[in-house]
Amino acid sequence: MTMQTGTAGGRLEIERLSQSFGGMVAVADLTMTVEPGELFGIIGPNGAGKTTILNCVNRINRNYSGVIKVDGVPLRCPPSMVSRHRVSRTFQSADVFLDFEVTDFLQLGRLERQRRNALAAAAWWPGIRRDEAREHCAAAALLERHGLGKLAGLRLRETSYGTRKVLDILRAAIAQPRVLLLDEPTSGVAVGDRLLIADILRAISGTGCTLVVVDHDVGFISRLSSRILAISYGRALGIGPPQEILAHQEVIDSYIGTGSSATAPALPPDSTEPTE
Ligand SMILES: Nc1ncnc2c1ncn2[C@@H]1O[C@H](COP(=O)(O)OP(=O)(O)OP(=O)(O)O)[C@@H](O)[C@H]1O
Ligand SMILES: [Mg+2]
Repeated sequence: MTMQTGTAGGRLEIERLSQSFGGMVAVADLTMTVEPGELFGIIGPNGAGKTTILNCVNRINRNYSGVIKVDGVPLRCPPSMVSRHRVSRTFQSADVFLDFEVTDFLQLGRLERQRRNALAAAAWWPGIRRDEAREHCAAAALLERHGLGKLAGLRLRETSYGTRKVLDILRAAIAQPRVLLLDEPTSGVAVGDRLLIADILRAISGTGCTLVVVDHDVGFISRLSSRILAISYGRALGIGPPQEILAHQEVIDSYIGTGSSATAPALPPDSTEPTE
């Protein structure tokens, strides 16, 4: 499976990130670096602060303290400009574009990369039409590449929930990001679509793109990621190779809710590989 992204992955550095809402600390003093081309996982119970981290990176949250850099450049722009740093993301719920046709939805991912403004668009109409035709072809080709060509004429509401999660990943990837953030790509998704999602993430990673994946499926994320962050109540419990982090007592406790277990949690069955 081939997939195009930006020329190479970006380095994501998060230094002393803290984000509070009112008096509630959602992320507390988090420092971590994701290396170029790394596939990095984030796990933690509900409300741990996982989505908040992604919201800070792509500047939906802007009143945090600390610094977030991509390739050494601090992100200080509004969220609409983050794509200039070649950062793209998926959302925990992708169900806000139900009336879009599938190819139009994928093209949304490219919109941010288009260089024209309204004046240029008005002055350069034939060029714009050519651009749009090219974007449409790129979206259709991407679908074909993943065996999803038959979806091209459908509206999102005519596809399954799992398919919409797949399409949201393709929408984010078509922007050719250097850093791609994914918020729970497998939540609520059946095994068949999880296999496809795992394949797509591996394909994107294979291009050198840096990936940060939040997920509750510890088996899925452990098998994909070279390192993971475990977070609970906004506080990092550990960052490192999955087997190492999953053996931490605090990680065990935050998942099974006792202070007495002396054994590492067994990895759930591998949901990224077919069972035969
Ligand atoms: N914009 C916001 N305003 C107020 N509180 C918020 C906001 N965003 C997040 N929170 C709170 O911050 C905490 C962390 O939320 P976050 O969404 O990051 O958790 P999460 O780890 O992604 O959880 P889940 O696994 O359920 O998606 C929660 O208590 C949440 O209610
Ligand atoms: Mg979340």
